[in-house]
Amino acid sequence: MKNYRIYLLLFTVVIMMFSCTGVSENQSEVSEDVEKAPLVTEESVPVSVSFTIEGNDAMQFNLEEMRVVEGQTVTLTLKHVGEMSVETMGHNWVLLKPGTDIQEFGTAAVSAKDNDYIPQDMIDQVIVNTKVIGGGEEISITFDAPKMGYYKFICSFPGHFGAMQGDFIVEPK
Ligand code: CO
Repeated sequence: MKNYRIYLLLFTVVIMMFSCTGVSENQSEVSEDVEKAPLVTEESVPVSVSFTIEGNDAMQFNLEEMRVVEGQTVTLTLKHVGEMSVETMGHNWVLLKPGTDIQEFGTAAVSAKDNDYIPQDMIDQVIVNTKVIGGGEEISITFDAPKMGYYKFICSFPGHFGAMQGDFIVEPK
């Protein structure tokens, strides 16, 4: 009879331990989900993305392509890693709408020095742009990725768009 009571007690203790463990595991799963919620969307696509693109004294960008996802918040930093002045080797980063004639835009930009080489009469072709910077400088902009599609980015400093351009690809969610 004494042994039976001991077994019953042990059995009860084991059951209690089991239930307690179960509850605490559930609670920790819930709190993990809550912590993750602000960082990822339902499809696990990051809400924001950052790029640093470099321009140098040889009239080159170091990236030919950038990929983002529709709706992401994009932080883009343009870094001029050269030493030449903004007057002789200025760089900006200009994201153009699909269908923009880059040759036409670049040609018009030559006479738009006072507006960071963004021609006023073609400003509706620009999604977003940085100011023009010189050697040793950097500048950041933040914007929402446009709808899915293929876009072009250029430097619109006179004579640069031919060499300084690349693809900005917005993938669907
Ligand atoms: Co440039």
